[in-house]
Amino acid sequence: MDKKKISKDYLHKIELLEEYNKNYYDKDNPIVSDQEYDLLKKEIIDLENSYKFLNNDRSPTKIVGFKPSKNFEKVKHKVPMLSLGNAFNEEDLNSFEKKIFNFLSLNKTNIIDYSVEPKIDGISASLIYVNGKFIKGLSRGDGVAGEDITQNLKTIGDIPKKVNEKNFPNEIDIRGEVFIENNDFKKISEKFANPRNAASGSLRQKDPAITANIPLKFIAYTYGHAKEMKIYNQTEFLKNLKIWGFKINPFNKKISGVKNLMLNHKNLEEKRKEIAFDIDGIVYKVNDFSLQKRLGFAANAPRWAIAHKFSANSSISEIINIEIQIGRTGALTPVAKIKPVNIGGVIVSNATLHNEDEIIRKDIRIGDTVTVERAGDVIPHVVLVDLKKRKQNSKKFIFPLKCPSCGSKTIKDYNETTKKQDAVRRCASEGFECEKIAIEKIKHFVSKDAFNIDGFGKKIVENFWNLKLVRLPQDIFKLNYKKIEELEGWGKLSVANLKFSIEEKKNISLERFIYSLGIRHIGQENAKLITRHLKRAPNFFRLSEESNIESLSNINGIGITQIQSIKKFFLNKINLKVLSELEKNLTIKDIILINNDGLLRNKTFMLTGKLNGISRAEAKSLIEQNSGKIINNVNKKLDYLIAGEKPTLKKINIAKDWNIKVINQAEWLKMLNKSS
Ligand code: IVH
Repeated sequence: MDKKKISKDYLHKIELLEEYNKNYYDKDNPIVSDQEYDLLKKEIIDLENSYKFLNNDRSPTKIVGFKPSKNFEKVKHKVPMLSLGNAFNEEDLNSFEKKIFNFLSLNKTNIIDYSVEPKIDGISASLIYVNGKFIKGLSRGDGVAGEDITQNLKTIGDIPKKVNEKNFPNEIDIRGEVFIENNDFKKISEKFANPRNAASGSLRQKDPAITANIPLKFIAYTYGHAKEMKIYNQTEFLKNLKIWGFKINPFNKKISGVKNLMLNHKNLEEKRKEIAFDIDGIVYKVNDFSLQKRLGFAANAPRWAIAHKFSANSSISEIINIEIQIGRTGALTPVAKIKPVNIGGVIVSNATLHNEDEIIRKDIRIGDTVTVERAGDVIPHVVLVDLKKRKQNSKKFIFPLKCPSCGSKTIKDYNETTKKQDAVRRCASEGFECEKIAIEKIKHFVSKDAFNIDGFGKKIVENFWNLKLVRLPQDIFKLNYKKIEELEGWGKLSVANLKFSIEEKKNISLERFIYSLGIRHIGQENAKLITRHLKRAPNFFRLSEESNIESLSNINGIGITQIQSIKKFFLNKINLKVLSELEKNLTIKDIILINNDGLLRNKTFMLTGKLNGISRAEAKSLIEQNSGKIINNVNKKLDYLIAGEKPTLKKINIAKDWNIKVINQAEWLKMLNKSS
């Protein structure tokens, strides 16, 4: 037995495992499959068992913080775990509050109270209690389904295993943040990049005994599904959480008015360093639950809450070059390549310059000394040029008038809504003709909110593009798996997994399908509106006839900008080919109406004039929530014209001529069993 050789081999395996850990934890970019990782770990343990002289503190048997398991059972959340929109300044907060006021049709004398809660930078978890007993705990996962990490959560002292209070709902899922305090993190900091990673890594260990060794904490702040809970606002809810035995954030407050929110933000930011755990901003929630319910959700985030991030960190650097990146919608984005600088613990070497106008306005040039800012998850950007340090021979930056990727001319659109020219210059080609745009379109197609193909990340799209395996979206469904199997880094198993993920997604909702096409101005929200209107996939494909596109203008929320963009999309031959190929390869599900047995089912409504105490947006959402449908002009399909104050008389007259019922606000609310 060659002891030396065995020791060397053993050490090499440990180093390799460390390399895998580093890529997984610090770079969020695993370089091997789970199986390969587990195999290597097993080899190390086997070696230790066979040769007792092997002993190393870096061995996976000695340390915590090795790769979390991916073998937890996936469980659907009863109520999805959504994320929050971000605000960075007073302007963002004003616009957040203004939207609330408009939606709720409030006037200036009204005051909205907010529950103000420091935003802990940890990992969110959902704890399900039935009859007071903690029965299941889930990670957030993708927001729709999480992982069953009950056993690991049970090791956390802050999580009550049994709640005996009388008013604790029989069924509830309490949500909050799992995190590590900064002092505790210091003790294990060599194994993790930051406290958040440490919390995440420890929570997702296969062996709960390992989780138990890490001092994880839990702070509760909301709930998902709750049966018969008699609490009517967030501050009351937080108080009850405490009574029920949960820890809550000691800095929670109730505040109204944007100016006061700003003041509190400033104070807390100054205190941030003294707090025992990492916070990256403050969450504001409309305090009143009934208002929260009325406000509801837009796309992925509630209208009633927002995260106010702490201000950016900044550093000074020098612009080495200015490159032009081309996005999915053809936008030419100038990016400054800067001398790498450390901003708040992250090395930054790229900073966005936003668009052509920004470069002109700030007269940003190659060679300039600049201040670069980085806030939260936002892309670093150049905020200031130090003109005193400008080099004598420096020249103005000339923005390219031709697309650097395909050579097409570049244009600035005229915005119909703002009546101004866009600040952004775009490649004039419609899409797949331009290589850079095509790659971005495919990345969008497979992305999380679109086809959500597991394991088909941006890097893989680029790789497959370079190998000419994918040029158009339909190619994804006809991949040459034999060829992929032979590529470096791929094996039978990973190819089988990819194939499985792709096959699984061949069945898709119309809403996701429309969104995945990446039509400009058709984001998730508009895709949803269009789906509700068209209902079935064949109706979407029929939009290639222009007269059908015009019908979309009946949708509240779809305007001339969206219609023009859809028209442009359907006029393009490649797009039509893409659509027909996708139609052949996919099963596109018809819309499933969430609530089609509401009080207003099979009834169509139109609004004219101003309603009292309720905005149009809210009235519309109320009708839809009760299975009614909104129509935007008086036609034979219309059942009720709701007339508010100062209605358009012409509409009322036409409605009367056609025997359409004209009702007032009170009559409409009566249909909903509500009083005015
Ligand atoms: S409420 C729909 N409250 O921030 C409401 N979230 O971007 C969603 N977070 O995933 C959550 N502190 O991990 C809420 N007091 C707080 C929070 C908080 C931290 C995290 C949470 C969530 C993320 C939202």
